[in-house]
Amino acid sequence: MVLVDAQLVAVALVTICVGAMAMRMARRTSSVVRRLGKNGQEMVALRHRSGAACDVYLHGATVSRYAVPNGHEVLWVSSGAVFNGSKAIRGGVPLVFPQFGPKADELLGITSMSQHGFARTSKWSVRSAEVRLNGDCQVVLTLEDSEATREKFPHKFSLLYTVSLNETCLRTALKMTNMDKATVAPQALLHTYFATDEVAQTRVSGLDGVSYYDQLADETDAQHGDVSFCGETDRVYERGDKLVISCEGQRAVTEIAVEATYVEEFGESGSSATPFAPDVVVWNPHVSKAKAMSDFDDDGWKRMLCVEPGILNKNRPKIAEGNSVILSQTITYIP
Ligand SMILES: *[C@@H]1O[C@H](CO)[C@@H](O)[C@H](O)[C@H]1NC(C)=O
Ligand SMILES: *[C@@H]1O[C@H](CO)[C@@H](O)[C@H](O)[C@H]1NC(C)=O
Repeated sequence: MVLVDAQLVAVALVTICVGAMAMRMARRTSSVVRRLGKNGQEMVALRHRSGAACDVYLHGATVSRYAVPNGHEVLWVSSGAVFNGSKAIRGGVPLVFPQFGPKADELLGITSMSQHGFARTSKWSVRSAEVRLNGDCQVVLTLEDSEATREKFPHKFSLLYTVSLNETCLRTALKMTNMDKATVAPQALLHTYFATDEVAQTRVSGLDGVSYYDQLADETDAQHGDVSFCGETDRVYERGDKLVISCEGQRAVTEIAVEATYVEEFGESGSSATPFAPDVVVWNPHVSKAKAMSDFDDDGWKRMLCVEPGILNKNRPKIAEGNSVILSQTITYIP
């Protein structure tokens, strides 16, 4: 009897140990899972073994969440954001393509288009979703021209959007390939909403001395020192590749490394990659613009700022048939 009890205890102990080990292993495993998110909308959940997490909705290929291993949420999403596919998700990283604003763009040759184009409201497809050999998480989404897109933008194109997550950073890279005989110069933005405790205390560095176009004043100026926010802010900086967001009195900072590259294909003989300077939009709607947006919580502007790597200006590359432009950002939150 005593022997049986000892055996039972031993079996129980082994079971507990194996269970605990399995749980630790489970916590240490990365995963990339397609599932349904809010309102049954299709999404991909990236979970890195370090605890970093990222959600990507197929509607707009919008990254709606990025949490670092200590649990801090890096991106801002409006509490009024609509997640039912009827409009762009207000927050995270919506994608702007092929046009920035509703105004006619002479390089694109389209007379008008809905604000920010159609990529952020299109349903994207999953090309691949995987945990890589080193444990990093990655999803690749695609969008190609269709009858609906050609009505607004009469060109054949292929977009490839790669979202990669590891313990230190989130990287999002948009590759735009021109599939058309005609040369085109699309605009694009990684329209990233960053969370902050108090925008009035927040600074963006890395743009000192850079010229910008102030969309509100309709004039051009040059940045002196850091960008700060004391009212509505809407500026297109003509270049910016290493940016840092900080908030007064806090040690944590968010670094954003931006890259833009023109890729020329030579068929059998390979390809060449030429870097060029990306634009950066800095935006905060402040009181009245926030109120005017139905999906923007009225006080939300205090806790967010947009820093948006883009390809916008008049000197942006004209993409010849078969060639591509890649725009990427690597976001690193340092606690
Ligand atoms: C989506 O949600 C919005 C806001 O709640 C609502 O106005 C709209 O009718 C909904 N659309 C669909 C297709 O469910
Ligand atoms: C995370 O990925 C980035 C590139 O996306 C890379 O530079 C960095 O070294 C990676 N970090 C770790 C810890 O693997």
